[in-house]
Amino acid sequence: SIRSVIRGTGSVLPARTMRNQDFAGIVETSDEWIRQRTGIEARHIAGEGETTVSLAEGAARKALDAAGLTPADIDVIILATATPNNTFPASAVQVQHKLGITHGFAFDVHAVCSGFVYALTTADLYLKGGAAKRALVIGAETFSRILDWEDRSTCVLFGDGAGAVVLEAVPADEADAGAAQGIITSKLRSDGSHQGKLYVDGGPSTTGTVGKLRMEGREVFKHAVGMITDVIEDSFAAAGIGPDDVDWFVPHQANRRIIDASARKLGIAPEKVVITVNQHGNTSAASIPLALDAAVRDGRIKRGDLVLLEAMGGGFTWGAVLIRW
Ligand code: ACO
Repeated sequence: SIRSVIRGTGSVLPARTMRNQDFAGIVETSDEWIRQRTGIEARHIAGEGETTVSLAEGAARKALDAAGLTPADIDVIILATATPNNTFPASAVQVQHKLGITHGFAFDVHAVCSGFVYALTTADLYLKGGAAKRALVIGAETFSRILDWEDRSTCVLFGDGAGAVVLEAVPADEADAGAAQGIITSKLRSDGSHQGKLYVDGGPSTTGTVGKLRMEGREVFKHAVGMITDVIEDSFAAAGIGPDDVDWFVPHQANRRIIDASARKLGIAPEKVVITVNQHGNTSAASIPLALDAAVRDGRIKRGDLVLLEAMGGGFTWGAVLIRW
């Protein structure tokens, strides 16, 4: 059998940083309110020429470099985004072209903030099924372009960016030399009955416009911790492990309070939690690969570590992935 092993990570943030103080003159808010309610201090905002595809391409190239591979080695690209450059073609195919790849296939996955967890799970199945040997899995977003910049309850929460990983199919007996490396479990969930709590109020088949993000923050918050901890407890049971076995918890970075409450409820020690929401805001599908790349590059996540990913977002969609690094 096959295991999907992560060979490299990469990420890109737009050049422009917007601090909480920079909202002065845009909406009625304060650094103190944003920090206290969310833990966010700053986020990056895409400028002219920076798009979901350009950020994704940059993150993909860095992940390939880290893996010691070239675009020619990749046979599938799965890009998670809710803010594609165009309705079609898929941003993944645009990235494929920019990387100069003409073999294999590429497509987008749309699960909003859970997109990276969905994309990684999908890639894992292609690799395990033998349809591909190496996958580029990307989370890339430019949420700044679907925000209502007059709505203080949402515009302060989000940021732009992209992160990527290279996944490689490795025969299980090779992967098992040392720690059993690779993706161990993936659990995905969705429930469309919650769609009114977090959605974009436009689209090609309804308004014919792109639309703006709308969120009932308090309602989302109410469901988040329960959904997150439930799918993680299922993952622990499936893998036959517990919270003490986790070396690094890399959650979707929406809100510091949701992350802290989830870790506390699960019994995961605070020092094992990777936090980037303070500097990135909520970058939707990009948040997990951005956080992963930060923790790999600063030496926290190492070969053999057990890493727990988790996300929850619009749909609602949610899920968790356990990986032996
Ligand atoms: N600055 C100042 N005041 C504000 C701001 C702001 N930016 N935004 C809202 N307020 C006000 C509100 O108007 C309200 O005032 P009122 O009491 O006079 O009506 C007050 O602050 C409290 O508003 P609440 O919405 O109740 O504040 P809450 O403590 O719930 O925090 C927040 C809001 C941060 C949005 C929180 O509910 C949250 O994080 N929810 C989860 C959202 C989330 O995680 N979404 C992402 C998951 S899915 C995804 O990632 C796409």
